[in-house]
Amino acid sequence: MQKKRILTGDRPTGKLHLGHYVGTLKNRVKLQDTYETFIIIADYHALTTKPSKEDISKFNKNIEDMVFDYLSVGMDPGKIVFYRQSSIPEVAELFLIFSMLVTVPRAQRIPTLKEIMKDLEINQPSMGLLAYPILQAADILMVKGDLVPVGKDQESHVELAREIARTFNKTYEKVFPETKALVGETPTLPGTDGKLKMSKSLNNAIYLSDSKEEVERKVKGMYTDPTRVHATDPGKVEGNPVFIYLDEFGGEENEEKIKDLKKRYKEGTVGDVEVKSCLTEVLNGFLEPIRERRKEFQKNPEIVEEILRNGKKKVRLEAQKTLSEVKEAMGLT
Ligand code: TRP
Repeated sequence: MQKKRILTGDRPTGKLHLGHYVGTLKNRVKLQDTYETFIIIADYHALTTKPSKEDISKFNKNIEDMVFDYLSVGMDPGKIVFYRQSSIPEVAELFLIFSMLVTVPRAQRIPTLKEIMKDLEINQPSMGLLAYPILQAADILMVKGDLVPVGKDQESHVELAREIARTFNKTYEKVFPETKALVGETPTLPGTDGKLKMSKSLNNAIYLSDSKEEVERKVKGMYTDPTRVHATDPGKVEGNPVFIYLDEFGGEENEEKIKDLKKRYKEGTVGDVEVKSCLTEVLNGFLEPIRERRKEFQKNPEIVEEILRNGKKKVRLEAQKTLSEVKEAMGLT
């Protein structure tokens, strides 16, 4: 039987961080043997908020960083197809067809649209920004993705893709699977500043490519429990990003130690310094093998281009096949 498919990806806006890891990268690594996996680097999507020439001139470097991030966390280029969105022109055609199946108010109801407009102080969205999730649906359904491992913020986009698939199948013929999202066990990792979400633009991220020293520095500056002034004050563990990271990255081998730290933190018998030094150790222990793998892959920088070239070849064939099925189903022949 043919394996089910995963399609997911990222915009080429920069290096990936621990939030990406827990939200989606971890699932991608875990599922790469069970699913045929496609990873899109969505440069057209990046244009929705970064259309200037200067922005675009950074894409290539960002793409290279991201591919090394993927490889270094253990995504296997022998199993996964990686490709760049703009190398598949068919996606624009599928997007055009899908845009007939979505009303303007439906697109306006997507919660991320309001968030982006607020964050970037955009008064009126461009057609491209408004249609962002329709393009994403075209990415997913172009390769007939069954499952989409994503961070929590992308769930509403995958829901729209599911609706589009359903509408298409009902209106014409069954071409698409009813795709669904898979959100990581920790749907959103807080930032080092205690804000709800780790994010590059908030400047509160620990990157997969950070050095030991950078990790140490960032952990030292981390937000903990703001109501706790002295090491002898009882502290709060729930919602404290230091403990959230410890739980997330500590692994079995640190379980006892973390339990003890939590107990002493609640009692007020441990200082932030000790807790943070444990976290630095834990994070560096987690990142060290990732750094090692990165170093190995980076000895061969041309691998990035090669991987994306192969991806383009494979995905274009899929895309052409899907598009002809679509047109056939619609009678557009
Ligand atoms: N919108 C996603 C993000 O910002 C990136 C993306 C584009 C994507 N196309 C996709 C994710 C298809 C999953 C599936 O992170």
